[in-house]
Order: sequence, then C-alpha cells, then structure tokens
Amino acid sequence: MIKILITGGAGYIGSLLYLRLKNLGYDPIIYDNLMYKQKTLERINLILKERISVKEVLAADLKYINKIDYVHGDIRDEEKLSNLFRENNFEFVFHFAEIVGYFACEDKKEESYDVAVNGTRIIAKLCKEYNSKLIYNSSSSIYGFSPSEKDLDEEHEIKEIKDQYSKNKLECEKIIKEVDPDYVILRPATLGGLSLRLRPELLPNHFSYMGWLKRNISVSDSGHYRSVMDAKDLIEAYIIIISNFKKGIYNLGSLNLTKKEIVNIIKKMFDNVNIKMVENRGDVRNLKIDSSKFEKTFNFKSDKSFEEIILPVIDLFETKGDIIKPEFLNISMEEWKKLIE
Ligand SMILES: NC(=O)c1ccc[n+]([C@@H]2O[C@H](COP(=O)([O-])OP(=O)(O)OC[C@H]3O[C@@H](n4cnc5c(N)ncnc54)[C@H](O)[C@@H]3O)[C@@H](O)[C@H]2O)c1
Repeated sequence: MIKILITGGAGYIGSLLYLRLKNLGYDPIIYDNLMYKQKTLERINLILKERISVKEVLAADLKYINKIDYVHGDIRDEEKLSNLFRENNFEFVFHFAEIVGYFACEDKKEESYDVAVNGTRIIAKLCKEYNSKLIYNSSSSIYGFSPSEKDLDEEHEIKEIKDQYSKNKLECEKIIKEVDPDYVILRPATLGGLSLRLRPELLPNHFSYMGWLKRNISVSDSGHYRSVMDAKDLIEAYIIIISNFKKGIYNLGSLNLTKKEIVNIIKKMFDNVNIKMVENRGDVRNLKIDSSKFEKTFNFKSDKSFEEIILPVIDLFETKGDIIKPEFLNISMEEWKKLIE
C-alpha cells in the first residue's frame, strides 16, 4: 500500500483528505499536535466504523469513541519526524501543520512564523532525503491587497506583504524551492464547506452562519475580491496530483467574487437578511486568482457555484445551530463573538 504522511491531518483540510485517501485504498498517517484539543480523530474513527456522513458525525455524541491511530508530535520536532520518515517509506507527504489564517497569525506572530518556517524546513529536508513527493499548501492569501483588472497568475510579482500569514507562506515557499525536493506548491483559494474540524471563521462558512442565524451580515470593504472554492474539490485536486505528479507552483480556486456579490447570494437564500457595511474589520485582502495553469496541467477544474459550496454548511446550521465550539475555531471564542456581532 502507498504510504502517505499528512502533517496537520487533524485539521480542516487534512481530515477530509485522510478519509478520501483511506477510501481509495492508500495508507495515510496523520502527524499532529492537536493544538485545538480537537476531536477530529474520534470523528474519523466514528465515520470509518459507522459509515456516517460528515454532517452526521459533527452532530454526533462522541462519548467513549477512541481516536484513530496517529502520531502525536510538534512539526518542529526533527528527531521524531526523522524517525517517522526512516520507519516509513512515504511516497507522498502533504504538509499542512501550521498556525493558519489571517487573524490567528496576527495574534501569534512569532509562534506562527516559528512553526511554519522551522516545520517546513524539516519536512522539505526529509522529503528530499527520503525521495518523498511533497505537496505543500501555500495560499492565495499571499497576493494580499492586489486590486487588478486581470486575474493574478503564479508569475505575479508580490511586492508588499503586510500580514503575518502571508509572510509565513512566502517564506515557506522559498524554503521549499531552496531545498528542492520533488514538490507541488498549491496556492488554494479560501475554502468553504463542511469538515470534521469545521472552521466557521472561513469567509464562506462565516457569512453562511451570519445569514442563517442572525439574518444580519456585517461586511467591510465590500468591493474587495476574494477567491473561494469548495473544500471537497480541493481534496479531489490532491487525488489528481498524486496520480499524475507534476512539479510546480499552482493557484487553485473556482470563483472570484466581491464580498458584496457573496452576501447578495446569501441574501437570496434566506428571508430578510440585512446587510450592514462596517469599517476596519482588519483583513483588507483584495485578490482574484487565475487557476488556468492548474486546470491545464492536471485537466481538472473546480467549478462549484457559491450556493453549492455553502448549502451543506447551511444545512448543518439548520440541524444544529449551537455547533460552534472552540475546537473548531482558529481564533478565540471572544474573537469569534466579535466577528459575529
Ligand atoms: N482552509 C483554507 O481555506 C485554506 C486555504 C488555503 C490554504 N490553506 C492552508 O492549508 C493548510 C491546512 O489548513 P486547514 O484549514 O486545514 O487548517 P487547520 O488549522 O484546521 O489545520 C492545521 C492543523 O495543524 C495542526 N498544527 C498546528 N500547529 C502544529 C504544530 N506545531 N505541530 C503539529 N501540528 C500542528 C493543528 O492541530 C491542525 O490540526 C494550511 O497550511 C493553510 O494555510 C487553507
């Protein structure tokens, strides 16, 4: 069986990828420090045992469910990771273990940089040494505030980076290129959709929550563009990457929408949604990405509409409105409360 390491595999993306790889007959292994005390590994176990859906597992009672086997560790623990690579012949390594997101990285500037940069250096070196193919998630966020008529491709020169998350990502890309294992660096759009670690603060999920619960969405910089895509589509893109590995850096998203367009879609889905324009919510990203390089290279296009992306999220909120807990968030509960004011 093909062995695949997923660092940060107890997170939003890694957990969905783990389940998909397992279903396809691969042998995935999760390495994570469970920094949010998340119950992802119990949820994976329940899904594997009971064959229930992600929505059902999110709503389920997790009492007495054991975790699946995984390797507990910090991504900066070089010795532990060296042993893991020595004992396993990983054909592919998905590297997701970081402190993630605009607000989380602004809040923990030094720690997030330390985790991202040192973890990535260790993983890149080990992939090179053991001939494992590395798939690293950078982010479309690195394009930052880049208003432009045309969609930005991978050649776009990134001049000024203000936020810590993007600084971390660019530094990690640089390290991977320097160490030079066989790599795919993806720059995915902001994701939406269900996962075993919900991440309700992601823009599509957050605006769905506000539309459903509060019938009131506060938006700043409403003319700014964001690139978004469905989390499940990203997982399918990974499967295609490992079946037909082609080294390179690729943007990947499906929709470039202004925040105003996004809230108008949500407004049409619910009765009486009030849209409130506010100032200075912090994140001033404004970007449109061009994913044609990925589409041509891998013959894959993510083409879900925004409604299709958020319908399962809304369906979950309809079923279980009190679903939000600290283990799902990359920000504190206080910050989440401010975000949904
Ligand atoms: N979710 C998105 O919209 C999105 C978009 C583009 C790129 N990405 C990138 O994809 C990757 C995964 O994102 P995600 O949404 O799954 O985030 P996540 O926060 O849900 O997952 C990160 C995982 O890493 C683990 N982790 C954190 N610090 C660690 C450490 N020091 N040692 C070991 N494990 C540690 C956490 O416990 C968590 O399980 C990140 O690199 C992120 O920047 C995410």
